[in-house]
Amino acid sequence: MADPLLTSSPHRLMMTSALPYANGPIHIGHVAGAYLPGDIRARYERLAGNDVLWVCGSDEHGAAITLRAKKDGLTPRDIVDRYHGEMQTAFEGLDLSFDHYSRTSSPKHHQNAQDFFKTLLDKGSFEVKTEAQFYDPEAHQFLADRYIIGTCPKCTADGAYGDQCEKCGSALSPTDLIQPKSTLSGATPILKDTTLWYLPMGRHEEWLRDYIEKGLFEGQPHHDPQTWKAHVTGQCRSWIDGGLQSRAMTRDLDWGVSVPVEGAEGKVLYVWLDAPIGYITATMEWAEKNGKDWRDWWQSKDAELVHYIGKDNIVFHCLIFPILLREHGGYNLPTNVPANAFMNLEGDKISTSRNWAVWVSEYLEQFPGKSDEMRYVLASIMPEQKDSEFTWTDYRERINNELADVLGNFINRVVVLTQKYYQGQVPVALVSASETADDAIIEALQLAPERIGALIQRNRFREALHEAMGVARLGNKYMTEQEPWKLQKNNPERTAVVLHHCIQVAGICSVVLEPFIPRTAKKIQGAFGVENAAWSSAAADMIPAGRTLNPLPILFEKVDESVVQAQLEKLQASRAKTEPTVQPIKEEMTFDDFQKLDLRVGEVIACERVPKANKLLNLTIRTGLDERTVLSGIAEHFEPEQVVGRRVTVLVNLAPRTMRGIESQGMVLMAETADGGLRFVTPEEGTAAGDVIS
Ligand code: MF3
Ligand code: ZN
Repeated sequence: MADPLLTSSPHRLMMTSALPYANGPIHIGHVAGAYLPGDIRARYERLAGNDVLWVCGSDEHGAAITLRAKKDGLTPRDIVDRYHGEMQTAFEGLDLSFDHYSRTSSPKHHQNAQDFFKTLLDKGSFEVKTEAQFYDPEAHQFLADRYIIGTCPKCTADGAYGDQCEKCGSALSPTDLIQPKSTLSGATPILKDTTLWYLPMGRHEEWLRDYIEKGLFEGQPHHDPQTWKAHVTGQCRSWIDGGLQSRAMTRDLDWGVSVPVEGAEGKVLYVWLDAPIGYITATMEWAEKNGKDWRDWWQSKDAELVHYIGKDNIVFHCLIFPILLREHGGYNLPTNVPANAFMNLEGDKISTSRNWAVWVSEYLEQFPGKSDEMRYVLASIMPEQKDSEFTWTDYRERINNELADVLGNFINRVVVLTQKYYQGQVPVALVSASETADDAIIEALQLAPERIGALIQRNRFREALHEAMGVARLGNKYMTEQEPWKLQKNNPERTAVVLHHCIQVAGICSVVLEPFIPRTAKKIQGAFGVENAAWSSAAADMIPAGRTLNPLPILFEKVDESVVQAQLEKLQASRAKTEPTVQPIKEEMTFDDFQKLDLRVGEVIACERVPKANKLLNLTIRTGLDERTVLSGIAEHFEPEQVVGRRVTVLVNLAPRTMRGIESQGMVLMAETADGGLRFVTPEEGTAAGDVIS
């Protein structure tokens, strides 16, 4: 079945990539999931001369933000401002070519999301219910989403959140969780009444099933369901089969878009209601800036909508957002949601909290100018259908064996030989000197751009990249077989033909690879005098005889094995830091042994560094018995002024020991933290120097 929207032209393609939470830096898993696929597609569509608009922005609401702020002792505003900027810089560094990058904390978006909500309210799309909800009596807060954690009722994994189990992808409600716990205090929540606006998703099962399984909308063919990824359709189907539960669309929180209803103070819209509306806000901002009408992209019959996301966002984009759009009325529904699976790193899940990641900003600092190298590797191993894995060894091999040895080497040989034999001028290919080998390569070249373009439009980026590199491989093989350096000696006409065709191959490479490695493509285009490259210009006669080539900058540097080792060590270091090894228990002792310890509460009344000893501080401690000197190996962790005035736990009957000429009369007890830090074992408030500890 042909997709009517894909074949009717002209049409507009509205593309979105998931708005990343502004709660941490961007890593390669994010890039491979939602941003690089969007960029490849958008760049291709622009080159193909199609009307495409690609928007994104920062998702600045929700528990992801407020919890991060709490952890860092900052305000949500501080957090989103910081990461909104950092994420934009990282995206720019990787040449992600959004037409517009927005943010959801803007007044414009708040207004837009409230208007959308009010329309749904007026249409009766919600059910208002006052019901008992989980509440943290210690933190004085209702618990939803990431504020509550427990065992998933669907897959029994631990650590499922109040709105979603990341293990199995199920959408959950807090009250579904088995053994729920507050992530704020660890407390078992109590129940307390509150009013929430629910989206009764059960009402929508029937049409959603037609939409997902048959590609029908309002009884009309909408899209070809065969073009959707099997894992996306499969997830949706299993949710619908399991019965769609009502989902609360508001939260009792003070950070987010206020619920625009009288008496709803202290309530905000659910982040998964406001964030996708952020796509629309971003489009409005872009349209305003460019004198365009946003409706042409969201509401016009000849526009189609495609969401690039990671697989954990499928339910929100394939079921919830379509319900919201349909309830509102007037909007198009997505014609495809090409979600990617996850990318792992060196045998483990990428994890922000465990610092098991390759951060884009760090990568770009360590490998300046090497955005194409990372884009190439990520596109080659993109988790299109199932999870994939990034390893530094693979990174090195792909750059050395593919980018440098195949593409870089071929382009370089073409330019060097053209300079050597023809002073840089593209030679004429005489028909009389042509052979069948030439016909074969010309035919292959003529077919390649269309085939690659079709793969990109079907979101098969790995294959598309493989085919595009295939053009370079073909050129390399042709040149190696024809051996122009030998021909040159006694068959100059044949040499010219071979070089002429190789130059065309280089030109075509520079176009069909541009969506993947835009910087390199531009360098090649610069050398071959290709201006305003267009997909249709990639043809077997694209670079005319007589044109003078420009110098070619170095395209790729080989990656040394030591680079791989350094990156692996860096990762291992963060593993060591975040995965504390539990110290084995010491040999058993008797109660009498313990009784020998004379522990007292002490107060530090003076403290100074011990000269020429990096680790030692000299503490004067009031013990109730006396004021004594104790040396402690904590100078790398504390400044003397941080220690003075503290109450500490001291072992007062330890045999004296002289270090650096100073006699130490006891020991201060310290706790070693998981991250390798040291903390004082401080007696509770209300104790005083001299109190006996037993
Ligand atoms: N912030 C979400 C995430 O990182 C994605 C939001 S996508 C949008 O998982 F549709 F809500 F914008
Ligand atoms: Zn689960």
